[in-house]
Amino acid sequence: MTTIRNPFSKTVIGDDEPLCNQKNLLSALMLEARSGNNNVLLAPRRAGKTSLAMRLARDYRAEGGLATLADLSAVPSADAAADRIATALFASLGVDSKIFKKLSQLVTAFVPVITMNPDGSFSVSASASGLTKSGIDRLVSVVASIDSISSQSNTPLLVIFDEFQDLAMLSDGAQIEAALRSTIQHHKASYLFIGSRRKLLRDMFESPKRAFYRGATTRELPLIETDEFSAHLIALAKVSGAVWSREITDSIIATAEAHTYSVTAIAHALYEMTVPDTPTAEDLAGAINTAADRESSLFMSIYASLTPQARMLIEAIADEPTKHPMAGDYMSRHKLTNAATVRKSLVALVSSDHVAVDGNGLINLTDPLLKRWLNSRWGKRHISGLPGMIT
Ligand SMILES: Nc1ncnc2c1ncn2[C@@H]1O[C@H](COP(=O)(O)OP(=O)(O)O)[C@@H](O)[C@H]1O
Ligand SMILES: [Mg+2]
Repeated sequence: MTTIRNPFSKTVIGDDEPLCNQKNLLSALMLEARSGNNNVLLAPRRAGKTSLAMRLARDYRAEGGLATLADLSAVPSADAAADRIATALFASLGVDSKIFKKLSQLVTAFVPVITMNPDGSFSVSASASGLTKSGIDRLVSVVASIDSISSQSNTPLLVIFDEFQDLAMLSDGAQIEAALRSTIQHHKASYLFIGSRRKLLRDMFESPKRAFYRGATTRELPLIETDEFSAHLIALAKVSGAVWSREITDSIIATAEAHTYSVTAIAHALYEMTVPDTPTAEDLAGAINTAADRESSLFMSIYASLTPQARMLIEAIADEPTKHPMAGDYMSRHKLTNAATVRKSLVALVSSDHVAVDGNGLINLTDPLLKRWLNSRWGKRHISGLPGMIT
């Protein structure tokens, strides 16, 4: 029996999997990489940033360039950042052994450690060489070696820092920012800084007080258009013999407000429930609930990490997106008692990017499934039979 894979991937899109649209942005970023320019790419969590960056790196390599992608999400220290960047650099040099030998030596703060996996493939990691001090010095040294590598190559080295704002959130973040900015400033490499905490990342590049001020062009990852997304979903389902109607795919996208991950998660659940049949509207309703339920532990951990006041506010916004959460009638409708507290909670929710101003100018949740989960969770409970006092 052949096992059919669910074509709706809930993780980062691999190099050989189809990516829906984003062609304009991809070609603009390719041009910027070839020209050695720096860019910032902003989008909410799970909108498709990493998938796009991986595709950019793949296409840049296909043209003969070198591209490296370091994931800095939740990085705990400058040392750990240096390690992650060095490992990403070594991995990107693995195109052929001559290049690897020649260029990996330029990363003086680390030596590559190659290990063979049980399946015969190889992995590379980075071990501190002892030639530089630890902490910011080591990080600066690794970033400086990016320039040495780039100088040896015909095209600029493309360096992608994913969730870059997390580096600035460390306690010595300001120092790290200043040190990196002066190291990167005259580089031949092209940098792409990506982040989902949009306010934090925007501030880093747009506030005159910050080291990276005007250091890059800021771009937003656009939502995928409904027409294209629908055609993409229909094509993916069809590969495994399932016929999906345009009504079904349009309604997935409408329910998920075109949020890339949410659309994919609902499609994933629907495919699983119905393949090889054509899904009905009833199937879709079930798949939406399943998709939201599957995120439950993540959503609960997000909710639990908020202050009680921020929890009250995010529930209010989930229930009723608004332009004015501090307006008296809004506050009383949602049992919010103090405007100063609402303002403080709003700042926290915006900086963690759980809420943002949407296309209609309303403060809204950035994750439509989280919104659904909040709206269905606490307020309503199923009862079996009617209580006796109702006649
Ligand atoms: N262009 C795209 N077309 C179709 N699906 C996508 C696209 N980009 C991302 N996805 C899907 O969206 C989800 C989130 O993608 P990811 O790249 O991890 O987002 P981010 O880095 O913004 O958090 C994944 O399930 C991925 O498969
Ligand atoms: Mg990502």
